[in-house]
Amino acid sequence: MIEPNISKFANVTKVTTHVLQEMKLKDEKIAMLTAYDYSMARLLDKAGIDVILVGDSASNVMAGHTSTLPITLNEMIYHAVSVVRAIKRALVVVDMPFGTYQGNSKEALNSAIRIMKESGADAVKIEGGKEILESVDRILSAGIPVMGHLGLTPQSIHKFGTYVVRATEEKEANKLVEDAHLLERAGCFGIVLEKIPAKLAEKVTGEIKIPIIGIGAGPHVDGQVLVLHDMLGITQEFSPRFLRRYHNLSEEIQGSVKSYIRDVKTVDFPNEREQY
Ligand code: KIV
Repeated sequence: MIEPNISKFANVTKVTTHVLQEMKLKDEKIAMLTAYDYSMARLLDKAGIDVILVGDSASNVMAGHTSTLPITLNEMIYHAVSVVRAIKRALVVVDMPFGTYQGNSKEALNSAIRIMKESGADAVKIEGGKEILESVDRILSAGIPVMGHLGLTPQSIHKFGTYVVRATEEKEANKLVEDAHLLERAGCFGIVLEKIPAKLAEKVTGEIKIPIIGIGAGPHVDGQVLVLHDMLGITQEFSPRFLRRYHNLSEEIQGSVKSYIRDVKTVDFPNEREQY
């Protein structure tokens, strides 16, 4: 569990969207990570993470696709169910996958209802601003908490063409600020800002009353999110400037597997104590 000297919210038994709002008001940074399975989610929750995102990055890190586009609603629900089973304290947010909410608010509502009903998650996250507002409104009208996602929105990678930093030009920066206000006004409980200039993220965080969570958006936001497999050093190919690696698990795992192979081949394993 998290130590009380680093969090005023250590004793909170369940993180809700209201707790996140309180964290913003009390200047406590929100710690968010992705998880896609029971075992990892359990470790994150026990360590005291505030928010777990069942991200559609599962498409990349769990399924090996080159983008987030292929993952399906059924697959996201499978990951979400596994995560929710593990969680006692963290707020669980589930990404709505590509093609389940864009351009059709009725389908958006049906998709969000399936996620909430079948997984027991606490909220959904969707990418975009003005263009998806009707879907946001309809999902919110059913009482489902919605988190926005602006800046680099990986589901639009074929429109952007690259994963470079977004909103460096004034026109795109202005649209991002406008979109953040629209999402707040619509009733979103928070917004993820991905890979945008730190100064712009600071401006949005100052103007918007709901929590702003950054990934590659600098320190002047209300919290941070990273993809678990990146911060643990399981993925190796992906190393943007914003990523801090807390471990080099890819080497450790491969080292352990090599030791196991050696022990099996040399009949060092199992030994006398490891048999019946
Ligand atoms: O899917 C994901 O992991 C995300 C984070 C990068 C915010 O959306």
